[in-house]
Order: sequence, then C-alpha cells, then structure tokens
Amino acid sequence: MNDPLFSNKLAFAILFSLLMVAGLPQLANALFGGGHHGGELHLAYPIEFATAAEGGEEAGTVSFPQLLVAASPSAGERRAGLCKSCHSFEEGGANGTGPNLWDVVGRDVAGVAGFGYSGALQAAGGEWSYERLNEYLANSQEYIPGTAMVQRIGKPDHRAEIIAYLRTLSDDPAPLPDVASDATAETEEAALPAAGEASEPADANEE
Ligand code: HEC
Repeated sequence: MNDPLFSNKLAFAILFSLLMVAGLPQLANALFGGGHHGGELHLAYPIEFATAAEGGEEAGTVSFPQLLVAASPSAGERRAGLCKSCHSFEEGGANGTGPNLWDVVGRDVAGVAGFGYSGALQAAGGEWSYERLNEYLANSQEYIPGTAMVQRIGKPDHRAEIIAYLRTLSDDPAPLPDVASDATAETEEAALPAAGEASEPADANEE
C-alpha cells in the first residue's frame, strides 16, 4: 500500500458509516422530531377553529343578532327577575326607581312620560334598538355615562335572552334581526327536533 494513512482513513470511513446508520435517525429525531410534532399541532388547530366557526358553537364567534334570534324569551324572563326591583314590565305598569319597560324595544330613549330621567339618558336621543339595548345592558355607565342605572351583564347570551324577553312585552313585537341565511337554517334545524320530541309522547298516549 502506498498510502500510509490508508488504515486510518478506512477506520474513519467505517466509523463514519456506523455513525450515519446508528446515529442519524436519533440525530434526525432530535432535529426534526419536535418540529414534526409541532407540525401536527399546527394542523389540528385550524381544523378545530374552522369547525367552531362553521358550527357557531362558541359564544365568542356568534354575533349578537344570531344570539338574539336563538335566545329563549322564557329564560330571559327568569333573568329579568333582577330588573324587577326597579322596573315593571306589564302594560301601563307603574314606574318605580326605573321606568316601566312595556314595549321598550323601538321606544324612544327616555320616552316614558312622567318618569324623571337623568339628563344623560334624555340627551342620548333616538330609539331603543336591539343593539343599543345590548350595549346599555352590557355596561350602562360606559355606554351612557351619567345614566341613573348601573347594570353590567357580562355574558352576551344572557343579554340576548333578556332582550328576547323584552321584545315579547308588546302587542306587536318588533321583527327579529335578519341573520345570515345559513345561521337561520341552523336555528330552525335546532328548533325542529325539540318540537317533534314534545309532540311525540302526546301522540303515543292517544293510541
Ligand atoms: C337598581 C334599579 C335598577 C335595576 C335593578 C335595573 N334598572 Fe333599568 N333603569 C333604572 C333607572 C333608574 C333607569 C333610568 C336611567 C336614567 O334616567 O338615566 C333605568 C332605565 C332603563 C332603561 C331605559 C328605559 C327608557 O325608557 O329609556 C332600560 C331599557 C332598562 N333600564 C332596562 C333594565 C333591565 C333589562 C334591567 C335588568 C337586567 C334593569 N334595567 C335593571 C334602574 C334600574
């Protein structure tokens, strides 16, 4: 052999080959294992988000009009118990600490004759739309600084229920807001099985 370093080179080559075969998978794992795992997580999240957005299952992803259309007025009536210390709800009911709330949806803001409204509420002007009621109940003092009522109902679905109840306090309830047609379809689908369940036992009893 002419190369005095041949055996060294050979030994190095063998060692290197062994390292490649035995060590590379581990090295690859160390380098890409975490990255691969992370890749799976990144893949999973967009799928979850897309499902929640399409299904509209998270309150945060559902608009106020959608919540209102889906809200139960009877649940709202129970929640409105906390308004009763100050407000009456029936037609022609007396004003208390707060004004009577019959037919409040669409009514002039500060519109009950003879009630002593704050200057702040009188200055607000306009009518009580669903959106304005939602803002007022979410944080009355922030929405109309200086109003005589202090209310903070934090949960959007609770406000929607209360407003759905207020809407029923009328001889001619205001139309519900137009929500996107797909959301309406979902609401109808959700309502139909409940109606079917309710009528089935009655049918069975009659037979
Ligand atoms: C502690 C007493 C109190 C409670 C409880 C209360 N309110 Fe009021 N509310 C008032 C007063 C006082 C006013 C008049 C505010 C003003 O003049 O600035 C008012 C005004 C209002 C108005 C505006 C009415 C109008 O004619 O412009 C609405 C709507 C309303 N309240 C809804 C509610 C609802 C819904 C609840 C229950 C979730 C509630 N309030 C709970 C005292 C109360």
